[in-house]
Amino acid sequence: MSVVDYEIRNQIGIVRLNNPPVNALSQALRAGILAAVERAQTDESRAILIICEGRTFVAGADISEFNQPPVLPTLPDVVAGIEQSQKPVIAALHGTALGGGLELALACHYRCALPSAKVGLPEVKLGLLPGAGGTQYLPRLAGVEAALELITSGNPVSAQRAHTLGVIDAVLDDEKSPVTPLDNAAIAYAQTLLSQSAPLRRVRDIEIPPDTVSENYFHKAREQLARRYRGQPAPQLIADCIQAAVEKPIDAGLALERMHFERCLHSSESAAMRHLFFAERQCTKVVGLAKDVTAKPVRSVGIIGGGTMGGGIAMNFANAGIPVRMLEINDEAMARGLAIVQRNYAASVKKGRLTQESMDRAMACIQGTTDYAELSQVDLVIEAVFENLEIKQQVFRKLDEVCKPGAILASNTSYQDLDAIAAVTRRPEDVIGLHFFSPANVMKLLEVVRGAQTSDSVLATAMQLARAIGKVPVLSRVCYGFIGNRMLNQYFRQAHLCLMEGATPAQIDGAMESWGMAMGPLAVGDLSGLDIGYKARQAEPDNPDHQRVYCLPDALVEMGRLGQKTGAGYYRYDPETRAREEDAEVLALARKLAAERGVTPRSLSDEEIRNRLLLALVNEGARILEEGVAQRASDIDVVYANGYGFPRYRGGPMYFADQLGGEAVLVRLRGLYAETGDPCWKPAALIESLAATGKNFTDEVMA
Ligand code: 3HC
Ligand code: NAI
Repeated sequence: MSVVDYEIRNQIGIVRLNNPPVNALSQALRAGILAAVERAQTDESRAILIICEGRTFVAGADISEFNQPPVLPTLPDVVAGIEQSQKPVIAALHGTALGGGLELALACHYRCALPSAKVGLPEVKLGLLPGAGGTQYLPRLAGVEAALELITSGNPVSAQRAHTLGVIDAVLDDEKSPVTPLDNAAIAYAQTLLSQSAPLRRVRDIEIPPDTVSENYFHKAREQLARRYRGQPAPQLIADCIQAAVEKPIDAGLALERMHFERCLHSSESAAMRHLFFAERQCTKVVGLAKDVTAKPVRSVGIIGGGTMGGGIAMNFANAGIPVRMLEINDEAMARGLAIVQRNYAASVKKGRLTQESMDRAMACIQGTTDYAELSQVDLVIEAVFENLEIKQQVFRKLDEVCKPGAILASNTSYQDLDAIAAVTRRPEDVIGLHFFSPANVMKLLEVVRGAQTSDSVLATAMQLARAIGKVPVLSRVCYGFIGNRMLNQYFRQAHLCLMEGATPAQIDGAMESWGMAMGPLAVGDLSGLDIGYKARQAEPDNPDHQRVYCLPDALVEMGRLGQKTGAGYYRYDPETRAREEDAEVLALARKLAAERGVTPRSLSDEEIRNRLLLALVNEGARILEEGVAQRASDIDVVYANGYGFPRYRGGPMYFADQLGGEAVLVRLRGLYAETGDPCWKPAALIESLAATGKNFTDEVMA
């Protein structure tokens, strides 16, 4: 079968697309569709049906072609070709009709879909806007407000919702038919249209009444979008295009859309977001894992510890319909843990993000227990008890005793040595780290930590399971803090050094937030609780670096200022709004502590703060790669974009370094090293070698 086949069945010319895995609109596919539609104009067919093989209708333009010079026909050429057909063209959707795929369908005169299909225009997630009519056609069908929300959020909607919005004309109901269900139902739909002499209905001909939205609607929308998508040009340009759809003839709107699309396509923001798109798919692949390694089925899960993390982790599995047994030290702790889970779900129901029915179904999946015997048959156990090696080892000894052979034993530890945990069991090959991020039911990142003896099938299971529960898994080897927190420690350390040297918390956080970080480092400290770092440092009371660098947070903790939870930390928090305010007491304390350590305050520029914090991430990231802790540089970018609020439109720390270039990174690191003598600035050998060879981090794949 070629990428596009054509046949006539029952007077319907069937254009069948077959470009696995997702029928992306490669040049061959575009040319094939256009040729088939042209051919159908002169044959005996009476209508044309565009239908896809495989798991989905067209999932969009071929993103891998975006870095290459354009080749004709373009997608707008294909759209125009379909639209001008003298016979009705019908799109039959299944799977996900996304981006250019939905635009292809919008060019057709009619659209039908299986009930399980989803449609959307997700271009904004790649720093783009729809480039083949989406911004002009969707408001004509769904109305301006719905179209703006769909295109700026990029989130797909169900076939049913799309039908309600007028985007799809018919939801087919023949999904259960065992053989080619879509073919049969779609051909029947096409024949019904023919029997009704359905007209050639072109979306472009629909008029949008000029008064469809209020006078300052677009002004307000742009303001909201600016807040929601800080630093991203595409959402603003989408608003421009939809405004043009209302105010201008369609061809003017299409021309504007094309111009803005080209502009976004060549923007640094889109290049970074496309990098992450592929990185998030690449990271699921374990280098060197034999093809025949199969994942084990995970049909039930045990969780030890129903605290902040345990409860959130349980929700992930319950949401996927996997039953969970959550074990706590006593009934009281158990009831507390379950109540938190219940509250989290109830909050989602209140916000309209979840139905009561889904909540009840999920809650029914989570059972509390205090008895290890109830975990004897589960396929996977995740330990999330206090961050203490002895306690974790005790738990694993117990699990080793009670769990069935072959059960996977996982730890959610942030810092403990996974191999020391595995060593207390008789089955270290079944032990793995599954490091969720807080809040565990929300954050996408999952660091999968491979112990020295973790078996390949346990690894494969973890990677597959992560995707099944909607996580983005990144593989890490064992080291202190794994990938994310190990780098973060260097980033935080620089933030604290800047504080000691004379910057204020608001300046440091402001410098990073205006650059795009979701939250500055000190505000993050206040959010997670300053007592966490304090306790960790207590284990090393004589470390001079701690006393020099972290004297301020330690003093704050001793004053009872633990961060947001006590209403004060580096900042003071408004009890109602939780808004942070700079606190003169903290500034004075910082100056006093610095003076006691012989530091004369100076003024630091935002540029210096950013340079130091980001280079600290990059240099540590390079060491992580050198040591083989991460498999590839792009995995580190995935960690930062999904777990640490790194702006997606900057691609991640290693991508950022690649944009600067190895030579420039090296020069900056050498400068900081010469100036401070601080070993943290000694350039990683990998950076020296990249600078020498002119290669990029993202070219490097480590074993
Ligand atoms: N172009 C090129 N490759 C694509 C692709 C695309 N649009 N969409 C997916 N792929 C590739 C992936 O890279 C992956 O490759 P790999 O196996 O080598 O890693 C493979 O297809 C399978 O993808 P997933 O692992 O993501 O498969 P899932 O089944 O989990 O998800 C999907 C399928 C929902 C379609 C998801 O892949 C997706 O969201 N794709 C992107 C959709 C998109 O952004 N479309 C808009 C593109 S821009 C556009 O259309 C511009 C137009 O307006 C002009
Ligand atoms: P927490 O203190 O909120 O919860 C721990 C729970 O474990 C408590 O409810 C406690 O009663 C229970 N527990 C303690 N010992 C137990 C035992 N022997 N058997 C059964 N239950 C026991 O702690 P949190 O924050 O949930 O952390 C748990 C683990 O997750 C730690 O290893 C931590 O490092 C890790 N982690 C925490 C993150 C966070 O942001 N809080 C993020 C990522 C990982």
